[in-house]
Amino acid sequence: MKTVDELKLVISKEDINNRVSEIGEQITREYQDRQLAVIGILKGAFIFMADLVRKIDLPLEVDFIRLQSYGSGTESAGQVRITKDVELPLKDKHVVIVEDIVDTGYTLKYLKQVLSLHQTASVKICCLIDKKERRKVDVDVDYVGFEVEKGFLVGYGLDYDEQYRQLPGIYHLNPRYEAKGFFPSER
Ligand code: IMP
Ligand code: MG
Repeated sequence: MKTVDELKLVISKEDINNRVSEIGEQITREYQDRQLAVIGILKGAFIFMADLVRKIDLPLEVDFIRLQSYGSGTESAGQVRITKDVELPLKDKHVVIVEDIVDTGYTLKYLKQVLSLHQTASVKICCLIDKKERRKVDVDVDYVGFEVEKGFLVGYGLDYDEQYRQLPGIYHLNPRYEAKGFFPSER
């Protein structure tokens, strides 16, 4: 475990707070008079989700889904499975999926397909961080908090091997290795 001093701050808690407020206001404008269901992807999105829904000034329902694509490493295997399904009925509802990071895109592509089976009125995606450069499959992300080019990030819900989720800002785990183009798992 590294201490916070050994991590490199990438996005401060103030910047996160401002951006989450902006996204909440945008969703509030765009979902007037619609039945809104906000679905968070566990576990990474739990803090973002908690902050975001408090910035949406509309009636809404909340649920969570848990998907697994990573194990405890840092590279997506490209295979996704549901380990905890949604419980709310979603038929005719306007769904906003809340995700921490879109990386390869495998997770969200799979989830969009699965949720369309629920006969939703619409499905949009809101992610805190978009790692566009690493995309392997095409997915439309409707609301993006921040674009980050590369590097493995921790904090504000994001983990490395289940650690660091509680940090209030977002940090690069290992800037020294990432500068050479390596990820922690490749050391
Ligand atoms: P993908 O888009 O299917 O490759 O996977 C996205 C998921 O991988 C996210 O929901 C995160 O849980 C995890 N992930 C991707 N990049 C990072 C990172 O930098 N830090 C922590 N988790 C990450
Ligand atoms: Mg995740």
